Amino acid sequence: MKNLNHCFSIADLKKLAKKSLPGVMFDYIEGGAEDEITIGRNRQVFSEYEFVPRVLRDVSTIDLTTTIQGAKSQMPIMCAPTAMSRTFHYQGEKAVALAAEKAGIPYSLSTVATTSIEDVAKISKGTKFFQIYAWRNADMVKNFILRCQQNHYQGVMLAVDLPTLGNRERDLKNGHGHARQHRLNILKGALRHPKWFYRFLTSPPLVLANMVEFLPYGGDAAKAMDTVNQQFDASVNWEDAAEIKKMWGGPFMLKGIQSVADAKLAVEMGASGIILSNHGGRQLDGAPPAFSLLADVKAEVGDALEIYIDGGIRRGSDVIKAIALGATACLIGRPYLYGLVAGGEAGVSRALEIFRTEMERVMKLIGCDSISKLSPEYVAKL
Ligand SMILES: Cc1cc2nc3c(=O)[nH]c(=O)nc-3n(C[C@H](O)[C@H](O)[C@H](O)COP(=O)(O)O)c2cc1C
Repeated sequence: MKNLNHCFSIADLKKLAKKSLPGVMFDYIEGGAEDEITIGRNRQVFSEYEFVPRVLRDVSTIDLTTTIQGAKSQMPIMCAPTAMSRTFHYQGEKAVALAAEKAGIPYSLSTVATTSIEDVAKISKGTKFFQIYAWRNADMVKNFILRCQQNHYQGVMLAVDLPTLGNRERDLKNGHGHARQHRLNILKGALRHPKWFYRFLTSPPLVLANMVEFLPYGGDAAKAMDTVNQQFDASVNWEDAAEIKKMWGGPFMLKGIQSVADAKLAVEMGASGIILSNHGGRQLDGAPPAFSLLADVKAEVGDALEIYIDGGIRRGSDVIKAIALGATACLIGRPYLYGLVAGGEAGVSRALEIFRTEMERVMKLIGCDSISKLSPEYVAKL
């Protein structure tokens, strides 16, 4: 795999990304909790369904457009929130937000981003959501909400699957939580990746840009990480979530719903969307893949809120299967990160283009000209 022009699939982008980044960081992107069984299941479940193609229908034009939380989207995909993007490529979150805007899809900024709410808003006029962790420090949550309002973010997603950090053993082995060891391991990898290292050394220092004023060391990403990890609040409950929703007052999604029962509670609390997600297999090993929950959740909640799924989506066909079973859209995490690592904004655009062309092709091949017409009749469980 020489460059982006030779990447025809997300798997190709992943190969290129792996070559471009120190192993410690690639592991951080790629790794999951414990035995990584959930990561494997996240992929496997898509192959447990096949299509029921229809023929002799006019599929000369395909309409992939949809509406996500009231905002028009050119395809049923959004970029999931991911931490620390400038670590992986100097263009970081801005590159992802710009590529998403150009593709006409929403971008979600993470609480633990290395670019601030304000800086992303300055460069992107596209649809933007902000992902919030419910921290111990309630002032910080209020501060996020106020800044999202001031900067015209269209929605907030509260991540509810992190009462504590998942047990990611690749990261532990690479020295996470032991600043000196971690730095040494990064340095070893950096020497083998001089292009990445040069950009790293010549770019502004990495800070947890949304929390600078709340953290020690001016938000320095390496030094403040322990403080951040202590902020995850295991006592958060449904009333707290409702409080955050009220404070925000706009489109509000819960990210990390993993059961039909909680999907029902999300409807009761008045959420406008749920993201069925196991955090890309990074939290609870043994958690269910979102795709395998989708049909039951749809049957229970109907159209009371929008349902999104993420985890293991690597092909346009995965997205089409999810829409057929009732999802409004899918979030992608690692696929755009592979693109970012491999080629900055152009790499993210390449990832999104791969999804677009794959989805269009699949729609033609199954005989359906609009994603609004997809239904469970287009798929069959093996
Ligand atoms: C490197 C990395 C960092 C992530 N950081 C966050 C985060 O800060 N907040 C969040 O809600 N989810 C985070 N996630 C989870 C993603 O939002 C998403 O749920 C997951 O990546 C979807 O699975 P996929 O990577 O297989 O597409 C992260 C995922 C990865 C791979």
